[in-house]
Amino acid sequence: MSIRLRDGVCIPIIGLGTWKSQPGQVTEAVKEAIAIGYRHIDGAYVYKNEKEVGEGIHQKIMDGVVKREDLFLVSKLWSTFHAKDQVQEACSKTLCDLKVEYLDLYLIHWPMGFQAGDEDLPLDETGLIIPSDTDFVNTWEAMEDLVDKGMVKAIGVSNFNQEQIERILNKPNLKYKPSVNQIECHPYLTQEDLIAYCHSKDIVVTAYSPLGSPDRPWAKAGEPNLLDDPKLKKIACNHKKTTAQVLIRFQIQRGLIVIPKSVNKKRIQENFEVFNFKLSDEDMESILSYNRNWRCCPMLWCIKHKAYPFKEAV
Ligand code: A2P
Repeated sequence: MSIRLRDGVCIPIIGLGTWKSQPGQVTEAVKEAIAIGYRHIDGAYVYKNEKEVGEGIHQKIMDGVVKREDLFLVSKLWSTFHAKDQVQEACSKTLCDLKVEYLDLYLIHWPMGFQAGDEDLPLDETGLIIPSDTDFVNTWEAMEDLVDKGMVKAIGVSNFNQEQIERILNKPNLKYKPSVNQIECHPYLTQEDLIAYCHSKDIVVTAYSPLGSPDRPWAKAGEPNLLDDPKLKKIACNHKKTTAQVLIRFQIQRGLIVIPKSVNKKRIQENFEVFNFKLSDEDMESILSYNRNWRCCPMLWCIKHKAYPFKEAV
């Protein structure tokens, strides 16, 4: 099951998320996922595990289980590489780590550019991010060059709000429109307006943190936990499915791509078994009503950055 992007490339509806997957575990997770039938792997430079992700992919290609062209590989340009002359090098590093010749989709990870250097998250003495003087509209031109060079098949953005996407769409001499906006999305952050906007512009939306990322490093006791929500548990029980499967199915029925992360074979399998049941219209309406605009990834270090995308958090 896949959705066609504007470029003609097809993106499989379920991808394996790899944010927070430990380098020592992710190779096996990728191999398990490919064996189960996943064909879409979502990664990023900043996850610090692309070599190990690449190892899993490489082994499955070597074993003859899949060919490179059967896979849909996604990575993301980190914010310290937004300067136009840094973009190609950043992409080359990812290609080298993944041991592949091209990416199917490359995203600008965040609209904010950070000071270039060795630190992925350069903070000042007050704990706030040190910005770069880059503008993502210029970064986009360097992303377009990657398509022309054959390094990536499609390009898109992640964590962009409507106005930021509009700035790209309205750029003079725009060559390629963004194919995808990858955003945090789950029943506590349903994103209805942004999704409607993206779909109206033929931009496919990928839902990240679909299970609420309970393993996010900054999680605090008492914060919302989707997997424990009694109302979601009840819907799952009615369908003889797990809460995670309901959370994944919910996004599929909204026409989104969804990338649950797991490093556990049983759960990787479980997260893929979502095509043999259907949530009713009432289930869907009910789940949409759980929205509370709660983010597991608010990126609060960047709250003062001129390109910080989440206005409601300021
Ligand atoms: P694990 O990797 O040990 O399976 P998200 O995709 O929203 O970032 O959530 C990932 C988190 O959810 C991880 O802690 C992952 O743990 C856990 N997880 C993944 N799949 C399931 C599942 N089917 N049931 C319960 N927890 C899951």
